[in-house]
Amino acid sequence: MAKRSSRFVCQNCGSVTSRWAGRCDACGEWNTITEELDGGVGGAPPAVSVSNRRGRVVPLVALSGEAEEAPRIATGIAELDRVTGGGFVRGSVLLVGGDPGIGKSTLLIQAAAVLARAGHGVVYVSGEESVGQVRLRAERLGLADAPVALAAETSVEDILATLAAGPIPAFVVIDSIQTLWTELAESAPGTVTQVRTSAQAMVRFAKASGATVVLVGHVTKDGQIAGPRVVEHMVDAVLYFEGDGARQFRVLRSVKNRFGATDEIGVFEMTGRGLGEVANPSELFLGERDGRSPGMAVFAGMEGSRPLLIEIQALVVPTSLGTARRAVVGWDGNRLSMILAVLEAHCGVRLGQHDVHLNVAGGLRIGEPAADLAVAAALVSSLSGVPLPKESVYFGEVGLSGAIRPVPRAETRLKEAERLGFRAAVMPTGNLGDAGGGRGREASRAAASGLDLAEIE
Ligand code: TYD
Ligand code: MG
Repeated sequence: MAKRSSRFVCQNCGSVTSRWAGRCDACGEWNTITEELDGGVGGAPPAVSVSNRRGRVVPLVALSGEAEEAPRIATGIAELDRVTGGGFVRGSVLLVGGDPGIGKSTLLIQAAAVLARAGHGVVYVSGEESVGQVRLRAERLGLADAPVALAAETSVEDILATLAAGPIPAFVVIDSIQTLWTELAESAPGTVTQVRTSAQAMVRFAKASGATVVLVGHVTKDGQIAGPRVVEHMVDAVLYFEGDGARQFRVLRSVKNRFGATDEIGVFEMTGRGLGEVANPSELFLGERDGRSPGMAVFAGMEGSRPLLIEIQALVVPTSLGTARRAVVGWDGNRLSMILAVLEAHCGVRLGQHDVHLNVAGGLRIGEPAADLAVAAALVSSLSGVPLPKESVYFGEVGLSGAIRPVPRAETRLKEAERLGFRAAVMPTGNLGDAGGGRGREASRAAASGLDLAEIE
C-alpha cells in the first residue's frame, strides 16, 4: 500500500514545504504553516499511458469568427458592467474580494436579482448565511420577488449535484470560497488546499457548462485575500471591493481581467436600501472646497477609462521631534519621498525640518504618477501658507531631473475639469498638443526654473 505522507502548507500564500516552520519562507508570515495530508490532490499524478489519451489541436485561424466577441450577460448595473468590461462573460470565473462587511454579498445579491428578473437562471449559494437570512436581506433590498434560486451549502460535491439537477444556470454566486470544502482534499475546511481544490472544481464546472461563476473571498486586513490568493491565478477576473467601512461609498476595482481592461473602477454608495450607483464620482472625491485653505490641490486623475477629480491635501508643519515625520494616506510613501527630494534639489524647497502629512480626500487610493504635480503643488502651498487658486486643477508626472513629463489622456482630464467648473489647469507642456484649442483654451508657459509647465485657461 502506498505510504501517505504529509506536507506543510502556508495558509497565507499557499507555498508548500516538507517540514514545519514558525515562519513561512515565501511570504514571511508567522504561524501560518499547517500540516496537511497528501491526498489524491497534489500528490504524484497517476501514471498515464500515452496511447489511449485523446486530445485535439485546432489551428488558430480556424477559430476566427467562431469567437469574435466573448458572449456576455450585462447586468444593467452600469458601475458593475464597467468593471467587468461590459458584463459577465459566459463560462468565466470571477473572484470578488474585500474586507468582511464591505458589501460583497449585498452587491452580488443585487446583481443576481437583476439577472434573474431579466430571465437568466441564477443560483446563489451561501455558505455563510442560511437561506432565511439571505431571503431577509433580499426583502430588505426590495428584491424578494426576483426568481433567484437560493442554496445554503458548503460541500462542493453537493453544490455541483444541485447545479446539475436543474437546467444549467447562467449565473452562479458562491458566497464565500472560504466556506467550501470538497471530499477530494483531505485537509480541514478553510485551509489553502481546500480552497484551491474547491475553486478548481468550480472553474471546471464553469468551463464545461458555460455558466458564469462568481467566487466571493474575504480579504485579510493587510489587503491580501487570505487563502483565496492562491485562487487569483485560476480565475479569469479578480475584482476588489474597497472602501472605508466608516464611509458609505465603495469602490469596485478590477485588478485582473482576461476579458477586459484592468484598473477600471465602479463607484457605489451603501444606502439603507443596498448599494446605489454613483455615476459622477468626481463630486464625491473633491471634498469641501472653500478655496481659502492652503495645502489643497485638485488632481485631474484617471481611473481606468474614467476621469476623476480628486483633492490632494498636504499639511507641512515644523517638526517637534528630532526626525521629521512623513505620513501618507492613499498614496505611495516612496513617491512622496521622491517629490520631496525633487523639490529640494531643483526648487530650493527644503522640508527636512518639517513633518509632512499627505492625504487623498475621500479615502481613495491613487496609483498614477500623474498625481506628482498635484502633490508638489499641495506641499508648496501648505509650506508657504498660500492657498492655490480655487479654479485650477493639476496633473503631470515629475521626473528626478525636475522635468514635468506628459501623461496619458490629457484631453479627457481637461474635459472633466471643465465640466465641473474649473477654469485653469497646470499641466506638462508636452500635453499641450492633446489639450486642443477648440473651446477657447489658452495656454501660457510657466517660467519656473527647471520645470516644464504650462497653464491653461
Ligand atoms: P455585506 O454585503 O453583508 O458584506 P460582506 O458580504 O462583504 O461581508 O454588507 C454588510 C454591511 O452593509 C453591513 O454592515 C450593513 C450594511 N448594509 C447597509 O448599510 N444597507 C443595506 O441595505 C444592506 C443590505 C447592508
Ligand atoms: Mg457576505
